[in-house]
Amino acid sequence: MKFTSIISLAVALCVVSSGADAASKKPNHHHSDPCKDLGTQAKNGTSSLSFNSVKGCYQAQAFNKHIADKTVASLESLLGNFYTFLDQARAPTGHPFQTRRVDLLDGIKKIHSKKWKSDYDFQMALYYLLASVNDGHLAYLSNCYRTARFSQPIQLYAPVVDGRQSVRVFSADATQKGVPKGNLVDCEVKTINGKPALKAIQEFIDLTSGISKDPGVRLNDALTSVSWSQGWTISGGGFSRRWTVPESEVMEYSLQCGKTHSNIKVPWIVNPITSTFKFNSFNSTQSYWASQCAAAPQKAKKTGNRHLSHSSDLAPATTLFKERGSTRISSSHNDGRVTKDEFITKGKQVFTTSTSAFYTLNDSKACVIVIATEEVDDNNEYANFIEGVQTLKNAGCKKLIFDVTNNGGGSIDFAYFINALFFPDAKPYFSQDLRDGPYVQGAAKLAIKEASVGNSIFDARGFFDPKTSKPFVDSSMFTKGIKQKRGGKTDVYTRRNYFGGEWALLPLPKNETLPWTAKDLAFITNGFCGSACTMVASRFNIVHGVKTYAIGGIHKRALSYFSFPGGFVYQNDYIVPDVQSLNYTAKGGPSYFPVKNIASIAMGEIYANDASTVPLEYDYKRFAANVHLDHDTVTARHPDTVWVKVAADFKH
Ligand SMILES: *[C@@H]1O[C@H](CO)[C@@H](O)[C@H](O)[C@H]1NC(C)=O
Ligand SMILES: *[C@@H]1O[C@H](CO)[C@@H](O)[C@H](O)[C@H]1NC(C)=O
Ligand SMILES: *[C@@H]1O[C@H](CO)[C@@H](O)[C@H](O)[C@H]1NC(C)=O
Ligand SMILES: *[C@@H]1O[C@H](CO)[C@@H](O)[C@H](O)[C@H]1NC(C)=O
Ligand SMILES: *[C@@H]1O[C@H](CO)[C@@H](O)[C@H](O)[C@H]1NC(C)=O
Repeated sequence: MKFTSIISLAVALCVVSSGADAASKKPNHHHSDPCKDLGTQAKNGTSSLSFNSVKGCYQAQAFNKHIADKTVASLESLLGNFYTFLDQARAPTGHPFQTRRVDLLDGIKKIHSKKWKSDYDFQMALYYLLASVNDGHLAYLSNCYRTARFSQPIQLYAPVVDGRQSVRVFSADATQKGVPKGNLVDCEVKTINGKPALKAIQEFIDLTSGISKDPGVRLNDALTSVSWSQGWTISGGGFSRRWTVPESEVMEYSLQCGKTHSNIKVPWIVNPITSTFKFNSFNSTQSYWASQCAAAPQKAKKTGNRHLSHSSDLAPATTLFKERGSTRISSSHNDGRVTKDEFITKGKQVFTTSTSAFYTLNDSKACVIVIATEEVDDNNEYANFIEGVQTLKNAGCKKLIFDVTNNGGGSIDFAYFINALFFPDAKPYFSQDLRDGPYVQGAAKLAIKEASVGNSIFDARGFFDPKTSKPFVDSSMFTKGIKQKRGGKTDVYTRRNYFGGEWALLPLPKNETLPWTAKDLAFITNGFCGSACTMVASRFNIVHGVKTYAIGGIHKRALSYFSFPGGFVYQNDYIVPDVQSLNYTAKGGPSYFPVKNIASIAMGEIYANDASTVPLEYDYKRFAANVHLDHDTVTARHPDTVWVKVAADFKH
């Protein structure tokens, strides 16, 4: 079948290094420093690292009480003062999207009071605590212990075949150690490390992903997926490509290929993560700490205007997804077997922009816009996107399908622009509020006195008032906050507000309208439609009634079509200089971490609509897609087969 040749090509292109792992064969010098070994092994991103050097080097970092105290103080301030779902995280959600109830501040206290063997164990405990909230905007990610990527040369997925969901091999690289020769594609994986395979994957990803309150979306995050990102790519999934250190050097699979059973042991392939690994910078445990872990002394930074600099920041869940890497399915590969056109056989690409690809379908009046991201690095994207839409209009497309698989968000402004483009008569924006305790109110009173508007996140003049459709003119958004009961606690949140933006300046030419109404539109997602992507998908669905299809996940269980709507994402590294520039010295304020990390929160919370009182992040009755589709062995590899199904589902 055609798709198997695509998969073998994918393997040939696989970014996983196939170089000799000389490192792991080196004799084990007693008393050798694992960090020294690691430094010697790592030359560049393709270098093969020894599993035990990485693990040993991480574990060699001694627990340091001073570091722990400072880390805890910074994290308590960040979450306690600013994390908008701090209280809400203590409240239950309901079926089928139950998520753990998490008391973050209590959890931090417990971690702080425990005796730790190493800094590594301490830092990872904080990571796992925040991940347990399952908010893709929220993370405490140590860069120090995220310098290596562990990859399996076997990529997995979980299609439903003959009414039964099972874990199967999506692709396998037989050139790698432990992988048997012969075609493993679509062999069933019965167990992994002795556990039923699906259970092993779900348990792992439930602890580490943090991407969604929906276990089905987390399962998708664990598995192989195909999506467009300036070309079609295969992403291996968080189970077979991870930054957390696996339990052991090898993964054991029991496989069933046809009638043949086999057990295989496949070593992890370990490579540096180039965005965090500092090559040639250390040769000992101590110098690893100095180079990879200890934060550089922070100089006071000038804070830019936050609307320009931060409203398009990526959520940590999206950053982690990108860090795993992906394999490009490229027509430029010259073995002649597979081209991009063969990969997508049921449609024709008629236009692309930096965020999106536009397709017509061969045997249908439906067309497809694949929106890969809302990350916009160039304002021309707005006009280019309109040109793509006009191309589809001119091609006579009667229906329009949006495929937002693996869309991790980006610019809120771009999301609002898409909303305004397709529904010009409706509000494109979401109203939101922020956590607004005494510390925040104090900052707001100083920020309002600043000469230039909007340099501080606490400056109300940087937010629009829904009552006037104009920016706030005083600090009342913060100082006259609203009490809300969340998770059994009553706390103050700001007045409702929204981010004003440029979207209003960039619609179609005045005399032009688009031919589609809500019933002509549909959304396809794998649930990883996060942040700004949510702001499009949920607006189309909740307010305008556009039908949504979520694909993959857990068989016979509703699947969410979006994840981590949050509000907007913010990092500790922005809040600290912001407060410093206000000369605000109240106690309990934010501080820089003593270690290199990404400490990131949802700072604002959005609501499905103005009347709604439950933040969308916890508005679980709205999570499920209208239609849940299972993946099979073909749809998982060919998104166009899903488009055709959805196209056939439009009411004529
Ligand atoms: C990485 O390092 C190896 C060995 O030092 C070298 O052969 C290879 O060309 C390097 N690759 C890149 C992409 O720089
Ligand atoms: C380790 O690196 C430091 C700084 O580059 C250097 O001064 C020192 O000699 C190195 N030590 C060893 C044992 O190579
Ligand atoms: C669909 O259209 C493309 C581009 O025009 C063409 O190459 C392909 O053969 C067509 N596929 C089918 C099934 O008609
Ligand atoms: C809109 O107006 C522009 C400029 O007047 C014109 O070129 C264009 O054809 C018009 N478009 C439509 C759809 O009428
Ligand atoms: C903060 O203090 C610095 C130095 O004392 C001063 O230059 C600056 O104007 C102050 N800023 C504000 C907003 O008060």
